[in-house]
Amino acid sequence: MSEPFDAALARATRAVQTCAHEFGTDFPGDCTLAGRYRHRPGAAGLPDGANLGWTTGFRTGMLWLCAQVTGQERFADAASADVASFAARLRDGVELDTHDLGFLYSLSCVNAWLLTRDAAARQVGLAAADRLLTRVVEPAGIIQAWGSLDDPAQRGRAIVDSLMNLPLLYWASQTSGDPRYAHAATRHARQLRDHIVRADGTTYHTFFWDPGTGAPLRGATHQGHDDASCWARGQAWAIYGFALAHRHSGEQLFWETSKRCADAFWVRLPSDRVPYWDLVFTDGSSQPRDSSAGAIAACGLLELAIASPDARSKAEALVTSLIDHCAAPAGSDALLLHGVYNLPGGEGIDEATLWGDYFYLEALTRLTHPACVLPW
Ligand code: GLY
Repeated sequence: MSEPFDAALARATRAVQTCAHEFGTDFPGDCTLAGRYRHRPGAAGLPDGANLGWTTGFRTGMLWLCAQVTGQERFADAASADVASFAARLRDGVELDTHDLGFLYSLSCVNAWLLTRDAAARQVGLAAADRLLTRVVEPAGIIQAWGSLDDPAQRGRAIVDSLMNLPLLYWASQTSGDPRYAHAATRHARQLRDHIVRADGTTYHTFFWDPGTGAPLRGATHQGHDDASCWARGQAWAIYGFALAHRHSGEQLFWETSKRCADAFWVRLPSDRVPYWDLVFTDGSSQPRDSSAGAIAACGLLELAIASPDARSKAEALVTSLIDHCAAPAGSDALLLHGVYNLPGGEGIDEATLWGDYFYLEALTRLTHPACVLPW
């Protein structure tokens, strides 16, 4: 069974190398344009290729994974060069008003600390966790998704994606001995478990709490089809994020929530198991697929498989479908085709995405070289 996964992994590491060669220390954009990565557009006074937005950590995370899998120093050298860029970004305060600090700093600086004992990277990771802690909104105890904490449009709003940023906080408590980070992570995850997950195991994309009283108010989508539908990638973030909250906190209810979300995802897949961008669509629809949701869900199922063997066979089926229908051809600088960034916003439709590539690589690594997987 592992032969197709090994072959796909070899092709994926070659694509990471192609992309690293093309971009050097610059960062590619969030997603490909007409099938190829371009330089990330500049902003905030910074040039094209600068470390901006929420997805740059995925490039660095792929480099660390390839360093582990291949043992080639060129990958570790490129990843280490990125770490300096993440340190500068935190120092200069570039686009940090976001819950996405875990995507950025777990995959870059925490990995650098874990793999190379780079003490400066550990300090940057801790400073990023401190920054994330400042986004806790009381009395709800949720981590606000976007924007300034006094922005009336965003105040009290959390997002399902944020579950993937909690490992930064759990790591900060573990490495520093200070329990405040883990405490905040668990409070936030409990609020999402109780309110962002619906009774049928599907999820809202975002949810608002009353900033004054902390009362739960309402779910609302941002990138999904509508408020009542289930955005496929959000559901995948929930599967993996709650499984990781269980790993770090030991709370059994998080494991059960992840399993419920996985079951709801599984029964809404089309017959070829490549999710549509929103789970409201199914066989016969001409809507685009979001392969990245399949890759993230596969990683979540592999986390669940630690205690639930049937989750592994589902993950293998998902990854097999991704290899069969979405793997990029040889020579590409991307790994996984047919993702969607933001369909209502008209961004990145039927393109490869940095996060889709990362989680596809992580899933292949988990299946073939489990000892090389970095812990989140
Ligand atoms: N975290 C943003 C997204 O998944 O599009």
